[in-house]
Amino acid sequence: MFETIFEPFRIHSVEPLRMTTPEHRREAIAAAGYNLFGLHADDVLVDLLTDSGTGAMSRDQWAAIQHGDESYAGSPSWYAFLAAVQDLFPFEHVIPTHQGRAAEKILFTAIGGPGKVVPNNTHFDTTRANVEYTGAEAVDLVIPEGHDPALEHPFKGNMDVDALDALLAERGAAHVPAVFVTVTNNSGGGQPVSLENLRAVRAVCDRYGVPLFLDACRYAENAWFIREREPGNGDRAVAEIVRELASLADGMTISAKKDPLANIGGWLATNDAELAGRCRNLLILTEGFPTYGGLAGRDLEAIAQGLRESVDHDYLRYRIRSTAYLGEGLLRAGIPIVRPVGGHAVYLDARAFLSHISPLEYPGQALAVALYEAGGVRGCEIGTVMFGRHPDGTETPAAMDLVRLAIPRRTYTQSHVDYVIEVCAAVAAHAHELRGFRIVEQPAQLRHFTARFERIGG
Ligand SMILES: Cc1ncc(COP(=O)(O)O)c(C=O)c1O
Repeated sequence: MFETIFEPFRIHSVEPLRMTTPEHRREAIAAAGYNLFGLHADDVLVDLLTDSGTGAMSRDQWAAIQHGDESYAGSPSWYAFLAAVQDLFPFEHVIPTHQGRAAEKILFTAIGGPGKVVPNNTHFDTTRANVEYTGAEAVDLVIPEGHDPALEHPFKGNMDVDALDALLAERGAAHVPAVFVTVTNNSGGGQPVSLENLRAVRAVCDRYGVPLFLDACRYAENAWFIREREPGNGDRAVAEIVRELASLADGMTISAKKDPLANIGGWLATNDAELAGRCRNLLILTEGFPTYGGLAGRDLEAIAQGLRESVDHDYLRYRIRSTAYLGEGLLRAGIPIVRPVGGHAVYLDARAFLSHISPLEYPGQALAVALYEAGGVRGCEIGTVMFGRHPDGTETPAAMDLVRLAIPRRTYTQSHVDYVIEVCAAVAAHAHELRGFRIVEQPAQLRHFTARFERIGG
């Protein structure tokens, strides 16, 4: 009935933001080698680098932290965590980790290796890196619509089921240790996957006898989209839709820093006892005993409470609406974005926006730097810097060059978002003046975190 986005919470404790000048920001980003990850966060005004671990915890999560029991083994906090996880994801074996990539590292160490291939709708960067680190191949099989930023489609994160079938037929099930589906599809624009698509993927996996895993970081946002967009789901509780998503899979990896509303944590789950045993042994090597896995008891409690809050409809309505609001503002300012707007972020189409900068001169990086210099807004390049370099050292343009403005959960207000829209519009007015970048220093893997850049033409 009313237009205003209603934030279903009041502010209970505040964090100051330090105002900065454009001169200060230009110096700060140059000193960071034009890598947004290299900035001191005090020099950032609105931090949209990631929605990972950056959300505001609720009063009840802080209260749960006081229940944290730090027993090394069998802590009550572990049982609270396990019950909350299994309420939404009823897998038999749950293995806690300090964050999502630790779950990936353990799982792919157990099932990956040379000669293996892991299909996914789109691998997230850490997922791809962990697959490739074992010598296995990571293959992205999102539907063709998922590659066209401007095309409207309700479930652009869907897996191309025919392509999956063809890959399994060609490589043989023995070489495919698991099929992954990422919900929502972060690297493809935060786009959801439909239940219908997941059922079809399940059927292919069954036909070849290959297990299906979810990269479930944004299960609640994906389930909200299913409720909104997939016929027959409009009256269902999000928690029930999440359980159905889980029931279609044999296991999952997740970062608790996303939809579970925690600042740290993750887990790996499976119904396969033998696999769970091998993973637990790896867990003990690097993360810790299987009832805490790299987390403090208090973290386990915060995650348990966050899981319950994550499927609240008022929260999800606000969450998805406020992300769409940013997208609508950018479109009004004439800035091309991935459409429709995803769940946790708005993705600016830097390749279309800065068509005068070739992909190998990193238009996404150029745009992300410009947003920071203009208004202290920190986004994240998701394009050729992140995905362009291959294990053999060669480089090709990524499928898309995007800048992700990820929205931390329950953290910024509508006026912060209005400010971001203004900054983007100001950059758009001078877009033709922006120049590309070259990399002057980079590591062999996950280069976007630490590479240093130089602006082309000085
Ligand atoms: C889809 C997806 N998978 C895995 C991860 C890795 O999680 P973490 O950052 O907790 O290691 C992320 C993090 O952004 C993600 O978005």
